[in-house]
Amino acid sequence: MAFLSDTLARVKPSPTIAVTNKARELSEAGRDVIGLGAGEPDFDTPAHIKAAAIAAIEAGKTKYTAVDGIPELKKAICAKFERENGLSYKPSQITVASGGKQVLFNALVATLNPGDEVIIPAPYWVSYPDMVLLAGGTPVFVEGKMEAGYKINAADLEAAITPKTKWFIFNSPSNPSGAAYTRDELKALTEVLLRHPHVWVMSDDMYEHLVFGGFTFTTPAQVEPGLYDRTLTCNGVSKAYAMTGWRIGYAGGPEHLIKAIAKVQSQSTSNPCSISQYAAVAALNGPQDYITESRIAFERRRNLVVAALNQCPGITCPTPEGAFYVYPSIAGLIGKTSAAGVTIRDDETFATALLEETGVAVVFGAAFGLSQAFRISYATSDAALSDACARIKTFCEGLK
Ligand SMILES: Cc1ncc(COP(=O)(O)O)c(C=O)c1O
Repeated sequence: MAFLSDTLARVKPSPTIAVTNKARELSEAGRDVIGLGAGEPDFDTPAHIKAAAIAAIEAGKTKYTAVDGIPELKKAICAKFERENGLSYKPSQITVASGGKQVLFNALVATLNPGDEVIIPAPYWVSYPDMVLLAGGTPVFVEGKMEAGYKINAADLEAAITPKTKWFIFNSPSNPSGAAYTRDELKALTEVLLRHPHVWVMSDDMYEHLVFGGFTFTTPAQVEPGLYDRTLTCNGVSKAYAMTGWRIGYAGGPEHLIKAIAKVQSQSTSNPCSISQYAAVAALNGPQDYITESRIAFERRRNLVVAALNQCPGITCPTPEGAFYVYPSIAGLIGKTSAAGVTIRDDETFATALLEETGVAVVFGAAFGLSQAFRISYATSDAALSDACARIKTFCEGLK
């Protein structure tokens, strides 16, 4: 009898973590490495949020809390949804977990039965397919082509829906492509969903605030109120307030689903960290300057990286609307040989050769379900980005 479960055998370890580990190893061995693999803001958590956490510790807010969030935080989340997304939720329609990742995972565990299908546009955040597999479901991929800005359209979505479809996972702005759907593009998708009442929508709005050039963010339940009763609107403080380590994510949705999610959480992790919850209250209710400041910095970096990568022979880098990622194509480099004699067969050999020969760590596209591309996270300093892009250019120019 095997010791490890069959379910686990279907799941692969996170490739983004593998790249980060490899880059760390090289760095520890004395190499000059620039890591562009990590998906977290390089800024510090704003001071007033840290102060709220310290005050919570000093006030003894260090005990178990309600499983899916303290009332103050649920209230702050309701206000956020109303203020920023025009969505009305009651506190009983809100769940809080240890990161957005846990909200998504719990929702899938709470709803999927064997054979249930989950539609995931590719390129996708690495965790979606594996979370679906862990929860016993079947991921169904729909490719968003580079020429379409890595977005899917109504016909693509319609073709993927079957009687077994349970969820459509929607992520805009996207990790890894940075693509964000305009209101009209999203409306076209919601119209398809309206015709298929058995399909639920899991909207991952984690990068909501990182949109550039006057782009207006919208979310499915806002664009199509007819979907409100079958949409889970997921969000968190990790990317919005540089709080990745605090582990607070949340969602709004129909009460019966929220209760089911709390049931899963009550038998696994229980409440998210009490101190982090008080910090999240301060983040959502307090001054919002950090959001604007980080958006300005990320937009500048996006422009820098897109311009520099498009100077590299064989690389094509579309300009994404948001998040802090770009997803350039390396189709023009396939079949070439590097200065060290490595043939670029695919995006994985490209990323490995790039790391070994130049010290620049990126994540290859196959990890996100769309190949002949790679992801750069530009959540690092302008100087490091300029240096990295210069190294990538030299690498590309050296290919024969
Ligand atoms: C698209 C997307 N969703 C969800 C998450 C999870 O964020 P957290 O668990 O830190 O809230 C991430 C983090 O990288 C992400 O990129």
